[in-house]
Amino acid sequence: MPTVKEHYDNVLSDVYAWMCGGFTAGIQKNMDFFETRKITPTRSGVAIDLGAGCGFQSIPLARAGFSVTAIDTDRKLLDELRRHSGELPISVIQEDIVDFDKHTGGNAELIVCMTDTLIHLESEDRARTLFRKVISSLEEGGKFVVTFRDLSPELSELDRFILVRSDKNIIFTCFLEHERDTVKVYDLVHMREGEQWTLNKSYYRKLRRSKQWIDEQLSSIGFSNIDSTVDKGFVTVIATK
Ligand SMILES: C[S@@+](CC[C@H](N)C(=O)[O-])C[C@H]1O[C@@H](n2cnc3c(N)ncnc32)[C@H](O)[C@@H]1O
Repeated sequence: MPTVKEHYDNVLSDVYAWMCGGFTAGIQKNMDFFETRKITPTRSGVAIDLGAGCGFQSIPLARAGFSVTAIDTDRKLLDELRRHSGELPISVIQEDIVDFDKHTGGNAELIVCMTDTLIHLESEDRARTLFRKVISSLEEGGKFVVTFRDLSPELSELDRFILVRSDKNIIFTCFLEHERDTVKVYDLVHMREGEQWTLNKSYYRKLRRSKQWIDEQLSSIGFSNIDSTVDKGFVTVIATK
């Protein structure tokens, strides 16, 4: 099975921003997310973006005044982030998110891990290791923001085929195969080249975890105030140390 890194390299990173509705839309959506929740720097101003991708959270946070460390394994997405970040205070690091603490101190005001990055981890143990490092890297009163799709409800038969996005040059279809603790995600990207279509395909696994699971994990390691919601299967957690 391809690793997450190989999957992004082979298929996803070339179409990631497009899949999200385009770069500008991805940035705007997250500016709105942070503004609505009044997430602005009030303490150290240090933010860490785990699984930063092309910068959909790093750029809004830096524009809001945070000094951001952006961590991701995917070189192409990080190059895209660098291209768009201009003079903003964003330090870009190609690294596994579970090893983020090799590059940061213990005074973060904000750590974010958004849009399914958490459930890309290979195991619950790796997620638990990440959570422990997150809480020790936050200053008192610092916040941890996590968002991911709850893949625990099982889809069946034709519901497992999902048209992610299409336009006249690209058709992105996803097929989901549920396993006990994980879901195999098959990404199929058809791209037009002149009169011909080519198919780029790969698959990877995501963890199936619920809001209740993350609430329990975060409270067991000492997060005090855990504000979590589910909207159309999408879990949003804002936990305070
Ligand atoms: C679904 S994307 C989300 C990107 C960004 N946070 C956003 O909202 O657009 C997941 C990102 O996590 C990265 N990623 C997944 N597992 C990782 C790991 N173990 N270490 C570092 N990056 C990882 C991928 O390369 C990808 O950029």
